[in-house]
Amino acid sequence: MTRHPWWYDAVVYQVYVRSFADGLPTGDGNGDGIGDLPGITSRLPYLRDLGVDALWITPFYTSPQKDHGYDVADYSDVDPLFGALADLDELLETAHRLGLRVIVDLVPNHTSDQHAWFRAALAAGPGSPERARYLFRSGRGKDGVQPPNNWDSIFGGPAWTRVPDGEWYLHLFDASQPDLDWRNPEVGDMFEGVLRFWLDRGVDGFRVDVAHGLYKDAALRDQVRPRKPKKAAESMVERVLHDEPMWDQPEVHEVYRRWRKVLDSYPGERMAVAEAWTQTAASMAMFIRPDELHQAFNFGWLGTPWSAEAFADVITDSIAAVAAAASAPTWVLSNHDVERHPTRYGGGPVGLARGRAATLTMLALPGSAYLYQGEELGLEQVDVPPEARQDPSWFRTGKPGRDGCRVPLPWSGTVPPYGFGGPAGSQPWIPQPDDWANLTVESQLADPDSTLAFYRRALAARRAVFAGADDETVASAEDDLLVVRRAGVRIVLNAGTYPAPLPEGEVLISSGPLPGGVLPPDTAVWLGITASGQERSAPSTSL
Ligand code: NOJ
Ligand code: CA
Repeated sequence: MTRHPWWYDAVVYQVYVRSFADGLPTGDGNGDGIGDLPGITSRLPYLRDLGVDALWITPFYTSPQKDHGYDVADYSDVDPLFGALADLDELLETAHRLGLRVIVDLVPNHTSDQHAWFRAALAAGPGSPERARYLFRSGRGKDGVQPPNNWDSIFGGPAWTRVPDGEWYLHLFDASQPDLDWRNPEVGDMFEGVLRFWLDRGVDGFRVDVAHGLYKDAALRDQVRPRKPKKAAESMVERVLHDEPMWDQPEVHEVYRRWRKVLDSYPGERMAVAEAWTQTAASMAMFIRPDELHQAFNFGWLGTPWSAEAFADVITDSIAAVAAAASAPTWVLSNHDVERHPTRYGGGPVGLARGRAATLTMLALPGSAYLYQGEELGLEQVDVPPEARQDPSWFRTGKPGRDGCRVPLPWSGTVPPYGFGGPAGSQPWIPQPDDWANLTVESQLADPDSTLAFYRRALAARRAVFAGADDETVASAEDDLLVVRRAGVRIVLNAGTYPAPLPEGEVLISSGPLPGGVLPPDTAVWLGITASGQERSAPSTSL
């Protein structure tokens, strides 16, 4: 058994800071309905008891909150909405005492338009060194009234906004998030300082926002438009390659070589995980070469449709792609940018059963798994009413956006705000549904069949069965059954519509009931296998 660094097979729980727990008291002694750092600290025992190894906290830095923290005005301070630096210190200290690691978010592709650099750029005017930290260009057409190229913002509309003196600046996201020019050495130097600032405070790692985006094609040439619109997360599954002069340029890897040296210069296995929506598993693996970042989110897994064959393919491809990089795969089903996976899998009881089955499968795979807050409660995507929507993409496109997966967590009680924070009877920053009483942490802790109880059992089982396992993983589809073999365990997921005979072996854990010796549809099971005559026995902990 090889000893791997902590992140290699860690289960990391994503905390969306605004929606996890509201702990900062306001004048009336209640919270303000927006989650914060003291709220997270107060719930760290919950995460320890859940059985995760680490948490990743979304941005809590000084920000006008146009993209809820992904628009940073000061990279080295805490926004008063979320507390102060001392609160972060206390969070880190408490987490470490409880045996939890902490990863923070780093947003290097763009700043807020309220960042001192962008304000200075606007004030200094065309041709100035201040403007050279961003991507200001003249427009095209008569009087430069057309944007400099044909790129679209991810949040809808053109990726360019014109300033009063006639120049345009690039923003691949909201107009309040101007893209930095990473070809300017000042930018790299600034971010090295930011890395060191948080490493010195004791964070265990970074989640790197838009890691594939920092460098753009040097000439900012037009994009050859895709023939059909690209769906989120389609690319690694369908293998349709698009022309993307704004993403995944080769120069970006130099940034991560520099960061790796910084990370390695600190004790304690500091790490970084890339959010890189690259087009292929192979290009994703380039971000985790031995002298670059440690991990990259595997969005291919998240985008896989409900099919045994598709699951087997993505498992096989993901493992093969990272093998050469001497890293380990990651697995993720939900985050704050995508529809929650029980809803993606059809919603209702079927969606939830599938969600649990996919999770149980994921937790048996080699490498590291990322969970998104609320999935352990079986939360579904919420249909947030238009007047309550806050996602900048909603304002730019008129489409619902991501608010539905960002609704504050229900902790206790029977009516909003379900113990989240804020005065009794109030609603938090995104309103919660009226029918969440049975989904609170409090009510699920009292129910051994709840999704929360299942997650706790599954995480305990993962530790007991797979800790340190280095064996080969083999995935295949046998009709509608996904079958994965790893470390003396056979993981079987029934992705079909009929019950299947339960394969031989001792049941270690299942995602749902196994009535009468069958594996029902939408259910997964871990079985101790007997192939070598050596049956793996159930772990000593009670599952
Ligand atoms: C990815 C983040 O996950 C998302 O929430 C954000 O809007 C964009 N990057 C822009 O920073
Ligand atoms: Ca608060």
